[in-house]
Amino acid sequence: MVTIDRFIIEQEHEHPGASGALSGILTDLALAAKMIANKVRSAGLADVLGSAGQENVQGEVQQKLDVLANETVIKAMDHGGRLCCMGSEEEEDLIPIPDRFSTGPYVLLFDPLDGSSNIDVNVPVGTIFSILPKRSSGPRGTLEDALQPGRDQVAAGYVIYGSSTMLVYTTGQGVHGFTLDPLLGEFLLSHPDIRIPEHGKFLSVNAAYEQHWAEPVRGLMRRCRGLTGEREAMNVRYVGSMVADFHRNLLAGGLFAYPANAKSPSGKLRLMYECNPLAFICEQAGGAATDGSRRILDIQPTALHQRTPIYIGSRADVEVASRMLSAG
Ligand code: AHG
Ligand code: MN
Ligand code: MN
Repeated sequence: MVTIDRFIIEQEHEHPGASGALSGILTDLALAAKMIANKVRSAGLADVLGSAGQENVQGEVQQKLDVLANETVIKAMDHGGRLCCMGSEEEEDLIPIPDRFSTGPYVLLFDPLDGSSNIDVNVPVGTIFSILPKRSSGPRGTLEDALQPGRDQVAAGYVIYGSSTMLVYTTGQGVHGFTLDPLLGEFLLSHPDIRIPEHGKFLSVNAAYEQHWAEPVRGLMRRCRGLTGEREAMNVRYVGSMVADFHRNLLAGGLFAYPANAKSPSGKLRLMYECNPLAFICEQAGGAATDGSRRILDIQPTALHQRTPIYIGSRADVEVASRMLSAG
């Protein structure tokens, strides 16, 4: 049995110069994940379902569990002395490290609860995180530290609160998955070195937007569904929690798409909290991610909450998407 703590330390030892700061961040995130998992597990009993009665910076209704998960991550991460600042999907501005705590060489960006609009109906939800190196010279990070392209990430991961709770992460040495043993309260290595199948079996897209898609996107989706005779039809599976859809496709092979549409010209998903971390994981597992014309990890961000269209998953399917969309 390999616990996540042991695995993190062993990976650190492969980098003789490592300070231990990144390992500490990952260990603290695993603790935050367990705390959120506890809340999600008992959500139907503990009066934490439903709306918190306010909107976040994206103008989306915040669920009580969005707020709880956001606070849990901040409190688990702000005092370790390893971060210079944080950014959350639920917070308009960068989250500073309180003055009473020391700071460190990394930035943490996160989506505290992904798929939260699903929580009231007991569908899997998740937490996504991205870790970047600090670039600015002062001790407390600035926006410049957060606005780095995804290729500069030093680690990224997600937690899925599904039929079991899993934490999946990469530090650029492959993708590794850990399952929470509910009796031990420990994440144990269950999925070492995950590789995404080259060709996808599943297509995950919200087809309700078809009427607002551009013609090349419609053509791509028709092809994926086997309607053009160029390939066998993919099975369509859409949970509506990106973490859950991505996780299935990572293990079983597939293409997840959230295209631009006439009503949302940049799609919906956020580059810094959702697309970059999952793109890093996907590439590390042998897959790919594009916005239709650019590699997701090469996009230079200009705003903390910026959105991007995304096509992510099995390499062969993402290549077809890039080809069809850039030709259009
Ligand atoms: P969040 O709950 O963090 O706001 O993210 C929800 C996202 C993502 O998880 C999912 O893939 C997508 O919204 C679903 O959007 P549609 O309902 O428009 O398909
Ligand atoms: Mn999300
Ligand atoms: Mn969210």
